[in-house]
Amino acid sequence: MTSRPPQMQAIILVGFMGAGKSSVGPVLAEHMSWRFEDLDDRIERREKQRVAEIFRNAGESEFRRAEHEALQELLQELQSGSKKVVALGGGAFVQESNIGLIEAANLPTVFLDAGVDELWARCRRQSEKQGMERPLLGSVEGFRELYEKRRQHYLRASLRLETGGKAVEDIVAELIRALDLGPRRGRQGETK
Ligand code: S3P
Repeated sequence: MTSRPPQMQAIILVGFMGAGKSSVGPVLAEHMSWRFEDLDDRIERREKQRVAEIFRNAGESEFRRAEHEALQELLQELQSGSKKVVALGGGAFVQESNIGLIEAANLPTVFLDAGVDELWARCRRQSEKQGMERPLLGSVEGFRELYEKRRQHYLRASLRLETGGKAVEDIVAELIRALDLGPRRGRQGETK
C-alpha cells in the first residue's frame, strides 16, 4: 500500500482522455474537504480562450506552453498552503518538464486507467451528449496509438487505479483506501 506523505498538499489525477479525472476529482475533494481544480480551467482563465480555441488558433505547442505555465502557477500556490485535488489534462503528465515539476513537489499522483475501447466510448458519448470538444479525439486508430504512446508516462504515477466498468464512488473509495486517506475530513482537515 502507498502511504500518505506527512503534509500532503494535493492529490494529482492523471490519465488519458475519458479516464474520469474530472468525475472522480470533485468526489475525492469533497471527501478531503479540499477544493477541486481542473488544470484546463486554469489554462482557459489565464489564456482567456477555451482549450479548443487555443488548439485552433495557436496549435498544440502553444497549448503545451500554456499548460506548463499554468501548472507552475498552481504548484506555486500550493506552497502557500491551499490544498487541492487536481485533474490534469491527458497530455500534461506526458511532458517531461511537467512530470519533473510534480515529482520535485513530491505530490502523490494517481493514474486513472481503463481499456482504450472504454476510454474511446466514454469520449464519444461525452462529445455526442454534452458537446464536449476534445481537439485530440480524432480517429479511433489515432486515439489508440496516442494512448499506447502515453501509457508508459502515466505509469510513473504513484498509484494506478483501474476504472473500467466502475462507479465513481467505488473508484474514490478504492483511492481513499490505497492512499490511506482515512475518514471524511472537516473544514480544517480534521477527521469527522
Ligand atoms: C488533452 C486532453 C484534454 C485537454 C486538451 C489536451 C490531451 O483534457 O487538456 O484537449 O492531450 O490528451 P482531458 O484529458 O480532460 O480530456
